[in-house]
Amino acid sequence: MRVFLETFGCQMNELDSELVRGRLASLGYRFVDDPDAAEIVLFNTCAVRDHAEQKVRSRVGIVGSQKRNGREVILGLLGCMAEREGLEILQKHPQVDLLCGPGELDRLPMLLDNLRRTSAADRSERVALAGNRSRRTATLAAAEDALETLDLSRSFDPEGTRRPWSAYVRITRGCNKFCTYCVVPATRGAEVHRPPDAIVEECRQLVDRGVIEITLLGQTVNHYRYTHGTALTLDGREAPQVGPGLAAFRKAPPAGQRITTFAMLLARIHEEVPGLERLRFVTSYPRDLGEDVFDVLATCPRICRYLHMPVQSGSDRILKAMNRGYTVGEYLETVDRAIERLPDVSIAGDIIVGFPTETDEDFAATERLMRRVPFKNNFIFKYSPRPGTTAFDRLPDDVPDELKRYRNNRLLALQAEISRDVHAKEAGRSLGVLFDRVGSVPIERRAPGPASGGTVELRVAGRSSDSRTPEFQTPVPSDRRRWQALGRTGGDLIVAVDVESPEAAESLLGTVATVHIDSAESLLLHGHLPTPATTPIR
Ligand code: 5AD
Ligand code: SF4
Repeated sequence: MRVFLETFGCQMNELDSELVRGRLASLGYRFVDDPDAAEIVLFNTCAVRDHAEQKVRSRVGIVGSQKRNGREVILGLLGCMAEREGLEILQKHPQVDLLCGPGELDRLPMLLDNLRRTSAADRSERVALAGNRSRRTATLAAAEDALETLDLSRSFDPEGTRRPWSAYVRITRGCNKFCTYCVVPATRGAEVHRPPDAIVEECRQLVDRGVIEITLLGQTVNHYRYTHGTALTLDGREAPQVGPGLAAFRKAPPAGQRITTFAMLLARIHEEVPGLERLRFVTSYPRDLGEDVFDVLATCPRICRYLHMPVQSGSDRILKAMNRGYTVGEYLETVDRAIERLPDVSIAGDIIVGFPTETDEDFAATERLMRRVPFKNNFIFKYSPRPGTTAFDRLPDDVPDELKRYRNNRLLALQAEISRDVHAKEAGRSLGVLFDRVGSVPIERRAPGPASGGTVELRVAGRSSDSRTPEFQTPVPSDRRRWQALGRTGGDLIVAVDVESPEAAESLLGTVATVHIDSAESLLLHGHLPTPATTPIR
């Protein structure tokens, strides 16, 4: 059976897709790049903003019209949209055969198997599995244990991953924060922490198979905290466990109880997986980044000094309405501490504009905050009301779309200025770069790059595109192009290096080399390799 799988949304979804791909491939399913050549089309969906859902709906519409014209294909929706909308989707879109929420992905092969046994003609029995919306408690341990099996059974398939040298490892699932705008606690359920031994083992296995960069994933990754000796699987291994809740998170553990904190986990991986060249983590919840985390970052050279630390708004009133749990002052305190302890730290964030009741003054406060923090970049979103969230139920979406767009554009322009300053500071320095893409630019142009819009052609290794990476596909005649190897610094800044041929660029992929930075743009550094262009430094 040929399967087409497209991923929308966040890194957590990218990892889920990779695990699903590995599991199905091991069962004999073959993955194809062309949705029209597949017998099974799966969309791993995102429900964080309406825009993401619209994209999926339009894809579902296309498959629907093909089906009405006689195409026989199984259409499945996985992920957060399947969870959020549940059976409603099946009612609205009769072409959808299968729904599988993010907490049930381990059971996807069984669902597909059931569908394949029924011919299309009598496929009135559509299948759906969702469950996180109820934030089950009684069944949580068992369900999460099954999910744990999916994480553990990860079959590493270099063909199936876009960048085989780089991998995600989940440490925490779900979220307990309940920011009022956010659908994640409902779709991904309560916070569950994986046992540290399983995480370290997964990192070790990935490195044994050639991975040199691991990004630890969690919705609030720094809330990771594992209490030992409380939950064991039947065969005596430690089991995933539900998070302690925010109040308990801050308390010291009772005497005699052994805890692995986030900082301890980072240090353990750094120590026990020496072949790992880069260890990263996203996303940090700003309030709970303690000195212990900074201590580990300051002393472990292979842990990237990169913090994705979304602030969401620069107004205390809006932060309160968002239930973010910190003030602007507290956020800035964390930023200042981070910079003091780690002078070369790179900070990225997320900001929402047009949250209900946001005034010009609130917005101005966000601009002030942005000018105060050296953000290397910010993902800026227009508020999107999400059914099932507190903001949707209690606050009118009262900022007109035009004003949201205006504020969005202003912040994008401001961020471009800030990014330019942050990048400019790197000129003259030598930075470690992990090369991950081949690109080319027209020979005529100087200082080109993704930021200059549409003049760079990138050959991206593998298939699905990362929604957060600028990529352009404007054809330029090949005899008038200069070749480049592109990569990222430990602080996640994009670096381009000129090389003599595409082969030279390809030979750098998946290696870390020291690059001397010559010049900077808003989103791109230009540099050169000190010795012959093809000698990577490991
Ligand atoms: N509307 C707009 N942006 C949102 N985000 C989460 N929920 C919403 C929403 N309803 C943004 C936040 C979060 C990022 C992943 O998505 O900025 O950090
Ligand atoms: Fe959503 Fe807030 Fe949890 Fe992030 S911390 S996933 S924004 S509820």
